[in-house]
Amino acid sequence: MRCRCLKVGTSEAERIRRKLLGMDLLDLDVRVRSKGGSILLPLNDIEIPYLSDMGEVVTEEMEPVNRPPRSYKDLLDIPSDLHKLLPSSHDIIGDVCILKLHRELEPYIGEIGNALLEAKRNIRVVALDKGVEGEFRIRNIEVIAGDPNLETTHVENNLRFKLDPSLVYFSPRLATERARVAGMVSGGRVLDMFAGVGPFSLNCSRHGKPDEVIGIDLNPDCIEYFQNNIKLNSASDNVSAYLGDANEASIGMGPFDLIIMNLPHGSMEFLPTAYQIMDEGRIHLYSIVEMTDVRSMIASILSSSDGYEKKLDISGMREVHNYSATRSMMVFDIIVKRDPLSI
Ligand SMILES: C[S@@+](CC[C@H](N)C(=O)[O-])C[C@H]1O[C@@H](n2cnc3c(N)ncnc32)[C@H](O)[C@@H]1O
Repeated sequence: MRCRCLKVGTSEAERIRRKLLGMDLLDLDVRVRSKGGSILLPLNDIEIPYLSDMGEVVTEEMEPVNRPPRSYKDLLDIPSDLHKLLPSSHDIIGDVCILKLHRELEPYIGEIGNALLEAKRNIRVVALDKGVEGEFRIRNIEVIAGDPNLETTHVENNLRFKLDPSLVYFSPRLATERARVAGMVSGGRVLDMFAGVGPFSLNCSRHGKPDEVIGIDLNPDCIEYFQNNIKLNSASDNVSAYLGDANEASIGMGPFDLIIMNLPHGSMEFLPTAYQIMDEGRIHLYSIVEMTDVRSMIASILSSSDGYEKKLDISGMREVHNYSATRSMMVFDIIVKRDPLSI
């Protein structure tokens, strides 16, 4: 490209470059280069009379600056009224990018997928999230760009998880929460009731100090990946994975000192089982809660041990992430003690 430049001596080039920058006269989209013993500083279109006092104004062949695009949105040529509907966030599981799209963007899914592949070098495949379904909480996924193989390895808190997000549930958004729970484990036996591919179990094993961790899941694909992930993270000495229904499989496995209950749409139903396999200890219960219903949720938890000879205390609760405009996924840290009145 031909560009108007200020040709200056090497020794004063930096001083003049800064001066032009301060006066908003430098063309930042064009690369500065040297020619002979001089430096060529590209100029924008503003005409000012005293430029020649600083150097010689010349027209030269110059190179544009190759800036990486700021966002995949910059690479898309779609109508401006649809541009504002483009999502700013997405999940990245290993090298798989998963995003939700507004219905009006559907005609452009191919372009959007390719723009994401181009903008994010660490992504191999882009897939559309059409919602989580069924008992196994699996996402309905449609590949929109890249390699259609969805099996990937996700790194979280120094652990590796191999999984296919179209076959098993996995959320990368829980990494901080899993580290928090793991950090609270000091000795004892841990039960991960709805273990998926093992992220809570393996975080506890690696970053806590459990004697033993047992994970259960109903989805055979989860257990296959979980067993593989135990080996991948060299955790076979204290972690094991079992296929089955948490209510049935856990009876006879106790007593446990810590129970993780990450089935946000149904954890409450499994609390009676937890009381039968825990003498005293702690439960981390995850639940999707309407924000106006937090008080009644606390009351339901506290009354759930009636008839099980346990006394409960909620030692902490927090929002893990928002779920919808009015609902959040929350964690309740429940301390379980034997009820002295029942002895
Ligand atoms: C929300 S996912 C949580 C997975 C895992 N804890 C994680 O953080 O990735 C819930 C899991 O519970 C499993 N599940 C559903 N009902 C179950 C049951 N009755 N017993 C055992 N697992 C169950 C599903 O297959 C799914 O993998």
